[in-house]
Amino acid sequence: MAKKMIAGNWKMYKNNSEALRLIKQLRNRLEKNPARKSKIVICPPFTALSLAAKELASSRIELGAQNIFWEEEGAYTGEISADMVKSTGAKWTIIGHSERRQYFKEDEKVINRKIKLALKKKLKVIFCIGETLELRQQNLTKDIVTNQVEWGLKDLDPAQLKNIVTAYEPVWAIGTGKTATPDQAQEIHSFLREIIDALFGAGTGQKMTILYGGSVKPDNAEGLFSRPDIDGALVGGACLDASSFMKIIKAGEGVF
Ligand code: 13P
Repeated sequence: MAKKMIAGNWKMYKNNSEALRLIKQLRNRLEKNPARKSKIVICPPFTALSLAAKELASSRIELGAQNIFWEEEGAYTGEISADMVKSTGAKWTIIGHSERRQYFKEDEKVINRKIKLALKKKLKVIFCIGETLELRQQNLTKDIVTNQVEWGLKDLDPAQLKNIVTAYEPVWAIGTGKTATPDQAQEIHSFLREIIDALFGAGTGQKMTILYGGSVKPDNAEGLFSRPDIDGALVGGACLDASSFMKIIKAGEGVF
C-alpha cells in the first residue's frame, strides 16, 4: 500500500493544557509504532501552535494551522497572518474548510487568495472542497467540485501543486457520522485527478495527494484506504482522542 497521509483537524477544541496532553499521548503511541509509513499532520487551534511545535520537535508529526488571513499584514483585528503561523513552527495550513465557507462566508476568490499567500509564505496547503447534501441530491457533485478546484487553484502553476494536498470533504458527511462509502469517495477522487490533469497537464492529477474527510473513524478507515485514489484522511472528531486517531493512522499503514 502506498504511503498514506493522515491529518487531524482539531477545529475549536482543546485549550493549551488539553492540547499538550493529547500531543504527549500521540507521541507516546507513535514511538511504540515502528511502522513509520505514513505522513501525519495535526492542526490544533492557533493558540496551541507554539507549544505544539515545541512538543513536536524531533517528532515525525508535522504541524498545521486551520486557516490564515488573506492579507500579509495590516489593521485586521482578530486575524492571523501566514507569517504568524509560520513563525510558530507550523508547516501547513488548512484552507477552504466547509465550516469557513459556511459560517464565515469564504468564497472561491478568498480561498484562492489565501492559497496563493500560503504558498508565497512557504506554508503547505490542505485545500478542502466538497458538496452539500442538497447539491449531491441534485446530481451536482461533480459540477461543484470542478468549480471549487478551478477557482481555488486559479493562476497557480503546475510546479506549485507539490505543496498542495486536496481534501474531498462532502459537507453532509462532516460531523454527522454518515461517511461517504468507499465507492462514493473513490468516484470523486478519481474525477478530481481528471480535473487537475485538464487544468494543469497530464499526470498532475495522479501526483496530487487527495485526502477524504467526513466522519472518518477507526472502523471505516480501512475500507476507504483500500481504494486506489484515496491517499489518506482529514479527520475531525476522531482526531481528538489519541487512541482513535492512532487506529486511523495504523489503518493507513496496514497495521492492526
Ligand atoms: P469529522 O471527522 O468530525 O466528520 O470532521 C471532518 C472534518 O471536517 C475534517 O476537516
